[in-house]
Amino acid sequence: MYNEIDLKQININASPPAEEPQRQYYFMAKCCQYTKQFFTGHGRFPTAHVQNYGCQMNARDSEKLTGILEAVGYEIVDSEEADFVIYNTCTVRENANNKVWGRLGYLNTYKKKHPHMKIALCGCMMQEAEVLEKLKKSYRFVDLVFGTHNIYKFAELLHATFVQEGMVIDIWKDTDKIVEDLPVERKYKFKSGVNIMFGCNNFCSYCIVPYVRGRERSRKPQDILREIEQLAADGVVEIMLLGQNVNSYGKNLDVPVTFAQLLSDIEKIEGIERIRFMTSHPKDLSDELIAVMAKSSKICHHLHLPLQSGSSRILKEMNRHYDKEQYLALVERIRSAVPGIALTTDIIVGFPGETEEDFLETLDVVRRVGYESAFTFIYSKRTGTPAATKSDQVPENVVKERFDRLLKEVQQHATMRANALTGSVDEVLVEEVNEQDDTLVSGRLGNNFIVHFPGSRDLIGKIVKVKLNECKGFYFYGELAQ
Ligand code: 5AD
Ligand code: SF4
Repeated sequence: MYNEIDLKQININASPPAEEPQRQYYFMAKCCQYTKQFFTGHGRFPTAHVQNYGCQMNARDSEKLTGILEAVGYEIVDSEEADFVIYNTCTVRENANNKVWGRLGYLNTYKKKHPHMKIALCGCMMQEAEVLEKLKKSYRFVDLVFGTHNIYKFAELLHATFVQEGMVIDIWKDTDKIVEDLPVERKYKFKSGVNIMFGCNNFCSYCIVPYVRGRERSRKPQDILREIEQLAADGVVEIMLLGQNVNSYGKNLDVPVTFAQLLSDIEKIEGIERIRFMTSHPKDLSDELIAVMAKSSKICHHLHLPLQSGSSRILKEMNRHYDKEQYLALVERIRSAVPGIALTTDIIVGFPGETEEDFLETLDVVRRVGYESAFTFIYSKRTGTPAATKSDQVPENVVKERFDRLLKEVQQHATMRANALTGSVDEVLVEEVNEQDDTLVSGRLGNNFIVHFPGSRDLIGKIVKVKLNECKGFYFYGELAQ
């Protein structure tokens, strides 16, 4: 395990080891020299800022970057006015890219006044060939660019920025490698994400993820279990298992394991009280998994089940491998096995060729399922995906109008679902002191609804019973029930 490593014991005058993770420990030890030198020159350790732009996978990757920066002697700060800034980018929709281009302009201005500053970019957006070209041509002030497959090499790449002139670039097309036992700095003490797999093999026709995150790779169950045991020993009570499609976990391992089997093993780990996971592809959600969820006392009664569209015709065009009826039947099976389970979803509006009739099918599913909440997205054309070449893109004003109608429908059902819980008592994992009112603390129910109630800081990280007095749409005000 990484926490047994003493970087001071590493001989940095020897040549770097070839095997991982020892090679990265070696470069971490080397980087420590630079932060020490910085201290001698400036009377303080250098500061670093890690900014993530994407999903929970991206957030977990940012914790790994932070872990390495801390281990080599950086002081982590919230501000972008730091000695080292790294953007962990997303590219699932065009606006994610636009945000990064915008912020880079600002960083360039800051760097002109602070020339020793280093700027790094990594993550999904860096896997796009056009992005790299644009960076090489017009963003020469960036010091380091790497992608999603070699994030484990961050220490080595950081070291390269100290010894190499110009922009350090290291982008891989794909990998089958998973490197274990690198440091990670968790944002929360009591909950943590845990990667169980990387990449995606589904190639939904609108989605860029399989191109930038590569083919599906599952971590070995023993590595996952060891990490979770360690987290539990460290005070973590809630874990979120992360993968682009957790339901196909383990299919390609030398000794295949199902996601349901993995969950049953995790359930046995003492100290872990809540288990969440995302994302589930409806096409792979097995009855075995539903049965494990139904009998588990730790798996939260919440399932994120992306619909994307309610029209069977569009679902076929999207390459989703289920139709409207199959999706609704699956919801039925889940609801009857796990009564009261909260269902949330992702929906895309304005996929090429979407007609008013197709859209009405989506509204129909929203009405029939009655989601606790939904992430709604306007279709974004991603170069390189099959859908991007379709000629029948839906006009912007039509998409906007449908989007507003969808949002209204989603909110109406979410409020109804939440309202139904008013007056009940349920368990809340307390996460933080309320930002607006410090006499309140805020936490989440197992079904993911947020609850605010009077309480003090020492409740943070504890699971307590709370009476849900007042529903405010997608959150509650409550009081301790004891
Ligand atoms: N346009 C809009 N939304 C998209 N998503 C993925 N690709 C696109 C795209 N090109 C959405 C899907 C997915 C979520 C993570 O992002 O709904 O489930
Ligand atoms: Fe994208 Fe589909 Fe893979 Fe999800 S399952 S990451 S939407 S290709």
